[in-house]
Order: sequence, then C-alpha cells, then structure tokens
Amino acid sequence: GAPIITVDGPSGSGKGTISRRLARQLGWRWLDSGALYRLVAYAGRQRGLAISDAAGHAYLALHLDVRFDEGSDGVERIWLDGVEVSVAIRGEDIGKGASVVAAMPEVRAALLERQRAFAGAPGLVADGRDMGSVVFPAAELKIYLTASARERALRRHKQLKQKGLSANLAALSLEIAERDRRDMDRPIAPLKPADDAVVVDSTSMTIDAVVERVLQLAAA
Ligand code: CDP
Repeated sequence: GAPIITVDGPSGSGKGTISRRLARQLGWRWLDSGALYRLVAYAGRQRGLAISDAAGHAYLALHLDVRFDEGSDGVERIWLDGVEVSVAIRGEDIGKGASVVAAMPEVRAALLERQRAFAGAPGLVADGRDMGSVVFPAAELKIYLTASARERALRRHKQLKQKGLSANLAALSLEIAERDRRDMDRPIAPLKPADDAVVVDSTSMTIDAVVERVLQLAAA
C-alpha cells in the first residue's frame, strides 16, 4: 500500500503542527485523529449525552457526518453535520471530553475503520496517540514526539491565545498533567511509544528542526 508516517505523542508535543507540515511538504494526505475524538465529544455534548455514555458516544462515532478540508491557506477546516466547527472543537473543555470518550473501547473500535480509510496514495501522515501502535501497525516510519510538561503547557497556551480561546497557564499545566495521566493509564491503547517508534524530544527544537529530522528519517 501507500507509505504511512505516524506521529504519536502527548498533548502539546507539537504533533499537529509537525504532522501537518510533513504532509504538506511531502504532498501526502493528513489524518488528525485527535479531531475525531474531539468531534465525538462535541457531538455528544450537543445532543446532551452523559459523558459516561459509552454506547451513545460509540454510535455517534460510527455515524458522524464529518468533512475535513484544507484551504489554500493551509488551514484545516472541519465540518460536522454541515456546520463548521474548526474552532469550536479546539477548546480545552472539549479536549478533556475527548480524552474521556477516548478511553472507551467502543468508541475506539467505532473510529478504527474511519481512520484507516484516510490511508492512500501518494501517502499518509497520521497524527494521534495510537497511530503507530494500533491503527497503522505496519507504517514504514513511526515517530513518538514528546517535550517537557512545562514546554508543552507553554505551547498550548500560545496556541489557544492565537485562536482567541481562553487560556490560563497554571490551569493548563494541571489540565495537561491530568490528560497525560488519563491517556497513559487507560487500559485501551495507552499512550506510549510503539516498540519500533523513533522517540524525538522537541523540548529545545524548533518546528523546522523537527520536520527536518523526520524527513531525514523518512529518507533513510
Ligand atoms: O491537541 P491535543 O494533542 O491535546 O489532543 P488531540 O490530539 O486533539 O486529542 C484529544 C484527546 O483525544 C487526547 O487527549 C486523547 O485522549 C484522545 N486521542 C486518542 O485517544 N487517540 C488518538 N489517536 C487521538 C486522540
């Protein structure tokens, strides 16, 4: 099949930015799997589902009417039921909801084929937590991108501000620590590097340097 590069890692490690740039430079497709979990949490909230309702969220995950689009400006746009939700799903509250529904095996199973359907020529860069370990175990290159907790909180803070969303650094640090714990401690698809992943610590690396490093690994 067409080549796949997976980029997994914790919140704020820069996966989104890095994987999108990689996809653009290579001319490949891009999968933002975190957005799918955010969409499930968002749709559930819209419909008034209890956050603990695994069957309800799994149903939504199977039937989500979602469209991803990248404008000529390179900005990702996401539509849910024909309504643009690109910014609405980015808040920390939805991120937290996403990490709760992401711990439900029914929800993960429901999203599996939808994620695999993104693969195809000329190639795919897949961003998430379990892209290399579960969704695309045969990927030719698996990156596990990380950074110190403090650096990740700072990056997330800057990113939310840029989007005009509310952000408080101290609260974000706690939120990220809590999300790390939830993502790493869950029994299903816990966040950890795949056995054959290359770990890249981006704490003191620029975005360009990380992209460069991954492209070198891909060419090797
Ligand atoms: O932007 P950030 O890295 O904080 O999160 P995201 O990539 O938008 O994903 C939101 C949440 O979805 C994460 O905290 C994970 O709990 C969950 N997720 C997952 O379990 N598996 C994935 N492949 C992607 C996201």
